Amino acid sequence: MTRTAAIIGGGVIGGGWAARFLLNGWNVQVFDPDPNCAAIFAEVLDNARRSLPGLTDVALPPEGAISFHATVAEAVAGAAWIQESVPERLELKHKVLAEVQAACDPAAVIGSSTSGFKPSELQDGAARPGQIMVTHPFNPVYLMPLVEVVPSAQTDLALVEQAETILHSLGMYPLRVRKEIDAHIADRFLEAVWREALWLVKDGVATTQEIDESIRMGFGIRWAQMGLFETYRTAGGNAGMRHFMAQFGPALKWPWTKLMDVPEFTDELVDLIAGQSDEQSGHLTISELLKARDDNLVGLMRALKANDWGAGAVLNAQQKAIDPRPQSLADVADLGRPILMGRRAVPLDWTDYNGHMNEAKYLQAFCDATDRFMELVGCDMDYIATGGSYFTAETHIRHVAEANAGDVIDIHTRLLGGEGKKMHLWHEMTRNGEIVATGEHFLLHVSLETRRPSEPKAEIVAALAQIAQAQAGLPLPEGAGRHVGQKR
Ligand SMILES: NC(=O)c1ccc[n+]([C@@H]2O[C@H](COP(=O)([O-])OP(=O)(O)OC[C@H]3O[C@@H](n4cnc5c(N)ncnc54)[C@H](O)[C@@H]3O)[C@@H](O)[C@H]2O)c1
Repeated sequence: MTRTAAIIGGGVIGGGWAARFLLNGWNVQVFDPDPNCAAIFAEVLDNARRSLPGLTDVALPPEGAISFHATVAEAVAGAAWIQESVPERLELKHKVLAEVQAACDPAAVIGSSTSGFKPSELQDGAARPGQIMVTHPFNPVYLMPLVEVVPSAQTDLALVEQAETILHSLGMYPLRVRKEIDAHIADRFLEAVWREALWLVKDGVATTQEIDESIRMGFGIRWAQMGLFETYRTAGGNAGMRHFMAQFGPALKWPWTKLMDVPEFTDELVDLIAGQSDEQSGHLTISELLKARDDNLVGLMRALKANDWGAGAVLNAQQKAIDPRPQSLADVADLGRPILMGRRAVPLDWTDYNGHMNEAKYLQAFCDATDRFMELVGCDMDYIATGGSYFTAETHIRHVAEANAGDVIDIHTRLLGGEGKKMHLWHEMTRNGEIVATGEHFLLHVSLETRRPSEPKAEIVAALAQIAQAQAGLPLPEGAGRHVGQKR
């Protein structure tokens, strides 16, 4: 059954949460007194639809439905998750949480996006404090995996676990904060960096652009993949963390930072920073900057995904959980028909200067489907480790229709021949049932030791024979055996 999330407060953060739930198949009910809320949402949703679905190599479930409501009570009706994202004012949050609790399911998760308040502060005077926790996200919520989950001593821990399971299912990474504290964990770092940056600008040491370059050309890239401690561990060489601390620890006494002082936010400082920022980025509109940000985040996270590392490992875990493809021959409902070997949205980084999917990516999609078919017949990583695998000898792709970023494509696979060392595959790529491309591939089983053709193990031979026999009655697909330049 489709589940429902209520979004209370639909600004930057509420809009991002709405997109995250919606694109992961939840229905979303929104309450925000601002009449422009639906228009703001439309822009956030457009950006999310462009970028999120292609992050994983398996398509997300079909989108849920979004509706806007005139009262909090209507918005929370039937919701299993209620996300409060109203402005950061404690008395407003208290008022809204009271309205929510007066109408919502007592078993629902109530998460607050608050950047600064502790959960115990939010729970003050609440009807059911145990239901309330902080679930602090990062912008853009539809792409960034991190959510700081902060319970207080009063929060129901079973509900917190339920919340974490749901966040995992949304492709997010719940980080349980073990001790409530103002501003949680990540924003405390950000504040430290922000303070230091304000001093550097005020003292004329660096411009806003120079500070940004020092981050994005250096430690920003490092931090995205190993964070602070693991990075420093590698910096210590083979002697590791102890060596690093012995070497650099004393420098902390010098001290380099002005962290505890805050420069006064005078008009002069604000003008200086705003002016430098205009000079640095004023040639781009905010909407252009948001698109660039999303494109870059998708690219970075997909690189991490290929290495099953950090934020990429989170995506792989989500992908495994939503993968609709059969895991084994026994899972295939009807072996006599082409088998689903791929269902994915075209990612942003698969499109080219013509705005559509680049031809190399068609081969990538077919190659992924072939890998999946190999696993299905028993040529998995364990088997490959024993010294046998399939190598592709020939490929013929027909491009029939354009595919654009975000389009969901299916790949169904037939075995045209599978005797002995041979594996002759036919992939059909479709979008809403319409053919986008076909791929015909001829593979040979090889010994990884001699790099020469060799017989596969008996179980693979048997699996191929079973599929070939079941599909023998299908007519030869239109286009099979074609060569380049043949008339259509
Ligand atoms: N902006 C960020 O980067 C960021 C990141 C993480 C968390 N947060 C937190 O998220 C929360 C919202 O921040 P934001 O940046 O989205 O603010 P925002 O100002 O963009 O959005 C707040 C929305 O709440 C609506 N609102 C006001 N009163 C309301 C009410 N009584 N009921 C329902 N909606 C109401 C406003 O109309 C507005 O659309 C804050 O607690 C903030 O600390 C912000």
